[in-house]
Amino acid sequence: MGELSLNDIVHRVEELPALPNVTYKVLKLTSDPKTTIPELSDVITKDQVLTAKVLRMANSAYYGYARRIYSIDEAVVVLGFSTIRSLVMAASVFNVLDKEFQGYFLPKGDLWKHSMLTALTARLLAKRTGYELPDQAFVAGLLHDIGKVVLNTYMTKAFHSVLSKVNETRIAFMEAERDILGFDHAVVGARVAEKWNLPEALVEAIGKHHCPREATNNPKLTSIVHIADAASMSMGIGLGGDGLLYPFDGFATDQLNLTKNIIEEVMAEIADSLIDAETLMED
Ligand SMILES: [Fe+2]
Ligand SMILES: [Fe+2]
Repeated sequence: MGELSLNDIVHRVEELPALPNVTYKVLKLTSDPKTTIPELSDVITKDQVLTAKVLRMANSAYYGYARRIYSIDEAVVVLGFSTIRSLVMAASVFNVLDKEFQGYFLPKGDLWKHSMLTALTARLLAKRTGYELPDQAFVAGLLHDIGKVVLNTYMTKAFHSVLSKVNETRIAFMEAERDILGFDHAVVGARVAEKWNLPEALVEAIGKHHCPREATNNPKLTSIVHIADAASMSMGIGLGGDGLLYPFDGFATDQLNLTKNIIEEVMAEIADSLIDAETLMED
């Protein structure tokens, strides 16, 4: 198994399904302040599966409100445009992430759970550290490992060399990717985000989530995703090799003025909604 060419990767990224049309419509509508609630909810409710998923998340303990939310109209009013937008994103990538990724030792469901957990942690971290766009942090957390979806086939073929490399040298999984494939999932993930026309800040946060100090566009967002990723690893979900040797980067903790207290509080709060993240979307 030799190194891949950039061309191979570009092709694989091209093969990845585009986001559904309805998702782009929602992204557009929610970023336009002139959009009305009925306009937004009309677009969502035309898609029954999407509607069911959004309502399910809106009613999860994490977003929990005192009473049940029965309609998208209500959800939009209670949660607001930007949260609805992030829930629609989550619903849209569920099928892409909820698979087995053998090349990463991830049984079916684990990448979804890890992504969702990272998203929820990122959102909470954003709120605790005064980052103005918590729902953007959620989406960045949700998509941070999307590159694994693309590289999985190659990693599966290289499974044994990856395994022995990681075991022999105890190097981080990502270095094994680079050594064996010539690319890592963060770089490839950034390409996916570009293909999906996501904003530059998201492209960067995905591309640099293992090296936040290289972020120049939005180091705060990248730092939030980095910490959220490492924190959700330490909760033991979706380790998939990435969990090895993965401490918080000091650059990221400095960027966010993170104290041990904040991290512990966030993790305790997330642990409470953990079961929820696991069951979210599962039938
Ligand atoms: Fe990663
Ligand atoms: Fe991750």
